[in-house]
Amino acid sequence: MERTCGNGTLRLEHVGRKVTLIGWVARRRNFGSLVFIDLRDRSGLVQVVFDEQISEAIKDVRSEYILQVWGTVRKRTEANPKMATGEIEVHAEKVNIVNTAETPPITIADDTDSGEDIRLKYRYLDLRRPVLQHNLMLRHRVCMITRETLDQEGFVEVETPILARSTPEGARDYLVPSRLYNGKFWALPQSPQLYKQMLMVGGMEKYFQIARCFRDEDLRADRQPSFTQIDVEMSFAEREDIWGVCERLMHAIFKGIKGIDLEEHFIAVPWEECMRRFGTDKPDMRYGNEIQDLTDLFQNSQFSLFQTVIAEGGEIGALKFEQAADKYSRKALDSLQEFIKHGFKAHSLAYLKVEDGKFSGSVAKVLSEEEEGALKERLDLHDNDLVLIVADKKRVAQSSLGALRVRLAKELDLIPKEEIYKFLWVPDFPMFEWDEEEQRWQAAHHPFTAPKAEDVDKLFTDPEHVSSSAYDLVLNGYELLSGSIRIHDQELQSKVFAAIGMTEEQAEQKFGWFKNAFRYGTPPHGGFAIGLERLIMILCGTENIRDVVAFPTTNSAIDLMSDSPNTVDQKQLDILGISIDKDE
Ligand code: AMO
Repeated sequence: MERTCGNGTLRLEHVGRKVTLIGWVARRRNFGSLVFIDLRDRSGLVQVVFDEQISEAIKDVRSEYILQVWGTVRKRTEANPKMATGEIEVHAEKVNIVNTAETPPITIADDTDSGEDIRLKYRYLDLRRPVLQHNLMLRHRVCMITRETLDQEGFVEVETPILARSTPEGARDYLVPSRLYNGKFWALPQSPQLYKQMLMVGGMEKYFQIARCFRDEDLRADRQPSFTQIDVEMSFAEREDIWGVCERLMHAIFKGIKGIDLEEHFIAVPWEECMRRFGTDKPDMRYGNEIQDLTDLFQNSQFSLFQTVIAEGGEIGALKFEQAADKYSRKALDSLQEFIKHGFKAHSLAYLKVEDGKFSGSVAKVLSEEEEGALKERLDLHDNDLVLIVADKKRVAQSSLGALRVRLAKELDLIPKEEIYKFLWVPDFPMFEWDEEEQRWQAAHHPFTAPKAEDVDKLFTDPEHVSSSAYDLVLNGYELLSGSIRIHDQELQSKVFAAIGMTEEQAEQKFGWFKNAFRYGTPPHGGFAIGLERLIMILCGTENIRDVVAFPTTNSAIDLMSDSPNTVDQKQLDILGISIDKDE
């Protein structure tokens, strides 16, 4: 169809130019015989003016009709600073009504007042909103920069199967029944982990894929059941080589999208130190308020809770918030206490406020003069400062304080408003974590991650203290990426399977094929996977993953637009040998 330019691209310099535009009617206003229409396409909006010569032709035109307009660009008498094209308008000379539209069930505008459920049901209309168009185009550009950068680095894009064998990565699998082999199942890949390792055995050396992954897990604001990873694996690489690739990729993306020059290397804080300082393995580094360990300061405390915690090897940690004492009433502090009790099973929250150089608050009375002085010095306290203290088992105290740090940063507005991107590598994760439900050790990352060489002899005797070569990259409080150096030795792989409670038979049955490959010259290798949606969320400044996915599911994993998941015909089930056993 004839069309000379995008509607949103017109500016003052185009005044006098003859144009042919196509777009949807975003807004119509009538002023007597003059009609003003904001015409929207992917590039933006422009105001088109229809005078009395031509307005009759569009008398029935309403929102979301599609028009083709021939006209001339002219300067507006009064500019509209809210529109990118606000200094000009197009004077219509001829119009073609390309298609009509019923009244849309949602308001198609960035500041829509339509609820999310109805927008998801009519996602194809929601997608017309400029903000979603912008987000999807940004996502496209990030993928283009990724392909270009990794290609220049010598990586080869390889597709791995979507119908795959189940790979344990912590979530449940989406299963696909096999028609040819009734009773057998494919699994949709939780990630291409095993395939990318096999590509290394296969001699590809440097692989990447913008890979679709599927996980049947509890959803959160930053999770979808199907999502995308920028998945990378390389042979003959040490951790720093792999980090270098990722850092250069981030440089290219942030330069290309934001025009920002990131630091050459991102800082790294090992996992244990990260937990101690921030109480989480994904700290937001845009503000301080680190956890202070006060355990040593209360060694001789007269307070029974502190005594018990110290005697049992626990930790007394504190957070200081400057000039915040007057902002937290007793009721507000009680709600913080409830928050850590329910969220982290913490026993209690103690607090101190500084007023006229003196302490008040729940533990003020139990402090000795010495402790008061030491506290003031250690935390550099001044009037109106608020100190939150959690005394508990080490990890309980750390994670409670970590969550309080995040909550108060929001409540006290401590997160800088300007665009700041604080990357952080978190290496040296523990190899295993205890699974309460199954009463056994689980791989904290995945069981293909190499344990630290110096910890291998602790695999069975002291699994809790085995460190792994896994690392995360954290950005502004989000886990953006995970990766590790992999095991490339059959014997070590067998030991790790055994350490997570797999019998030899189970390991053979599930991973025999995989371990076998290690017999034929497996290169040392490692890699990472970036959560593409999380990266785009941060670049777009949204906290809702659905804003960066074209066709997302709800938080309860339902696609409202196509109404799925849904039932299938009995005939389809019969072919697959499946009978449904459920209470109506
Ligand atoms: P992991 O399971 O940590 O590692 O995933 C890597 C990154 O993928 C993103 N992510 C998700 N994004 C949206 N919705 C989800 N449900 C979801 N789950 C994960 C996160 C996460 O950091 N195979 C390994 C990587 C490796 O070792 O190379 C893996 O998948 O941003």
